[in-house]
Amino acid sequence: DTPALLDRWGRVATDLRVSLTDRCNLRCTYCMPAEGLDWLAKDRLLTDEELIRLIGLAVHRLGVTEVRFTGGEPLLRRGLEGIVEATAALRPRPNISMTTNGIGLARRAGALAAAGLDRVNVSLDTLRPERFETLSRRDRLADVLAGLAAARETSLSPVKVNTVLMRGINDDEAVPLLGYCLERGYQLRFIEQMPLDPQHGWDRRNMVTAEEILDRLSTEFTLSPAEEPRDAAPAERWLVNGGPAVVGIIASVTRPFCAACDRTRLTADGQLRSCLFSQTETDLRGPLRAGAGDDELATIWRDVMWAKPAGHGINRADFAQPDRPMSAIGG
Ligand code: GTP
Ligand code: 5AD
Ligand code: SF4
Repeated sequence: DTPALLDRWGRVATDLRVSLTDRCNLRCTYCMPAEGLDWLAKDRLLTDEELIRLIGLAVHRLGVTEVRFTGGEPLLRRGLEGIVEATAALRPRPNISMTTNGIGLARRAGALAAAGLDRVNVSLDTLRPERFETLSRRDRLADVLAGLAAARETSLSPVKVNTVLMRGINDDEAVPLLGYCLERGYQLRFIEQMPLDPQHGWDRRNMVTAEEILDRLSTEFTLSPAEEPRDAAPAERWLVNGGPAVVGIIASVTRPFCAACDRTRLTADGQLRSCLFSQTETDLRGPLRAGAGDDELATIWRDVMWAKPAGHGINRADFAQPDRPMSAIGG
């Protein structure tokens, strides 16, 4: 009996991504309809105590060394600071990060850092206020930029920025976004859009590819491949103008990194997923509430990961999107 989360393909999962809520205070057009989605009912959400028990199990019994909080929007989770604090109290202490839209971060960065949050990744698709409002259906660009600045001042670093470029929508901002991030010391990563939207509107032709992004950036910057080993990081990193600044490209579709994947996922309603694109989820909330012990829960988790698919299959003819959209699975 081994403590690690292994799969049939020889990978070991050490990075736990925990979705804290499926709700969000933005309505990015590629992620949610204007009216929002059918949010999870409260009794289906894991409580803070349940979450902490499961994160502790992963760290103590299953070899998890990194915990990332995602959403929906994790800052909407009441009790976030307490969850972070309890996670930071685990031994060995995991690295703790969060992927957020940044709204409200300006006010909370200090408390989150004090609770033990190590770093944040903030989503930012445009620097233009009107475009931000069109894209996210909310007029909140200033809050996001203030959140980013607060993250840097609070040493939640390195501060990373995630950008999804979309053809004809914001793909003219690759260069200005990189300029903005370079000036402020944020590490920008461009992400290829994946088929994970509830509207099932993803179209490969509208996806701005890694190659196109590199072409656009090369008009203004000199890029050279970064030397350090990439390990399981999804971003390929490029030195900008000889470094030390870097820009990342997360080319999930055109250059999948599934073979090096080290992730396991827990949704806000207590479902385990071995992959963002798994077609099945395994309920951990039921056994947990029925009084299962750590051995039983650990066995369920190991079995889920053993069956992890080799890859997402986006480029296969028989690809099918998972039932739930990214906001419910966790980014
Ligand atoms: P760090 O580099 O350690 O900060 O983490 P990260 O890049 O994995 O974190 P983040 O949550 O910011 O994820 C950035 C983007 O990577 C997401 O928006 C997704 O597009 C993509 N991504 C995250 N996890 C997965 C995954 O399991 N599979 C794939 N294909 N893409 C993922
Ligand atoms: N493909 C790639 N990235 C996505 N995000 C949201 N939906 C998608 C998608 N379909 C990004 C957000 C945010 C991060 C959590 O995931 O822009 O940066
Ligand atoms: Fe919210 Fe993120 Fe989806 Fe935008 S992409 S609506 S910030 S969950």
